[in-house]
Amino acid sequence: MKHLILVGACYLDTILTVPQFPEEDSKLRAKALQVRRGGNCPNTLEVLQQLLISSDAQHHQDRVHIRPYLVSCLPDRDAAATDKILSSFGGGRDGGDDENAVLVDFSHCLYRKGHDEPASSYIIRSIQNGSRTIVNYNDLPEMTTDEFKGIADAFAAEHSDEESWWHFEGRIPETTLGCIQYLRRILPKSTISVEVEKPNREGLVELAAEADTVFYSKSWAESRGYHSPEECLRAEAPSTRATVLLCTWGAEGAASFCKPSGEYIHGPANQPGEPISVVDTIGAGDTFIAGMLYGLHNETWSREAKLAFAVGLATKKVQIEGFAHLT
Ligand code: FRU
Repeated sequence: MKHLILVGACYLDTILTVPQFPEEDSKLRAKALQVRRGGNCPNTLEVLQQLLISSDAQHHQDRVHIRPYLVSCLPDRDAAATDKILSSFGGGRDGGDDENAVLVDFSHCLYRKGHDEPASSYIIRSIQNGSRTIVNYNDLPEMTTDEFKGIADAFAAEHSDEESWWHFEGRIPETTLGCIQYLRRILPKSTISVEVEKPNREGLVELAAEADTVFYSKSWAESRGYHSPEECLRAEAPSTRATVLLCTWGAEGAASFCKPSGEYIHGPANQPGEPISVVDTIGAGDTFIAGMLYGLHNETWSREAKLAFAVGLATKKVQIEGFAHLT
């Protein structure tokens, strides 16, 4: 059994679907309002859980065995919001004594005493062009490097001989860098991936430098002046030790670049003549990451197959509401 630990923030998303993005200082009636659990790593886990359950059900020889974990700051253990968040992953089979059950492990989450509310995102989703504009508010104290060290120690005490993959959202680069450096020391065989997403955030290049796999977003790439995923990946490759670099590019799909071979692959979102009807782009990048993390654990698939799988999954996601029924 391999362990896949996702470290990142959890949000409650309030989504207003509007005909078009509003003018500043105007009034606009929304077509729909939805509230759902969000957050990059939680979204990725929700998708991953489905993939693992369906892989289990297939009993294929290339089925993937992964135990998924979430490391996130949550409100108080007793808060109603915490219950809601944890039960939003209820898609797994009832664990009980079944050691193969695909349930997300929350035992390393950090519950913030005296906090009843989770981090919140208010999202304006435009029907006109499928854009999603996100405004966040988060007053939960962030995870510190010392807290992470405690988590990593507890994990290592139980599983030091087993394979582990640690994926970081890469939110607070200085903290995350400390976490990665500590992991390299105590679990030198673990694999580490990071997401480089927020445009113009300082410190993300230094973070990417330390990872084995890096996920770059289109908005980050554009903020660095790149005009294509290929330009981004080729230019960033020398500044990271990573051997697998990935970059999403909205309607143009995504691309991967491998080192030392220098192999570049582009995975288009759709075939010519196959239109995509965009319903919900919130979490498309998170879904791509789920597909890649799943594929990267599947040794029998080619690089092209892994990329095509993840792009296909994200393409399917943007055409449905939320993350349910992706498999
Ligand atoms: C989508 C998302 C939302 C969340 C926001 C956090 O990728 O994870 O679910 O509110 O981004 O930045």
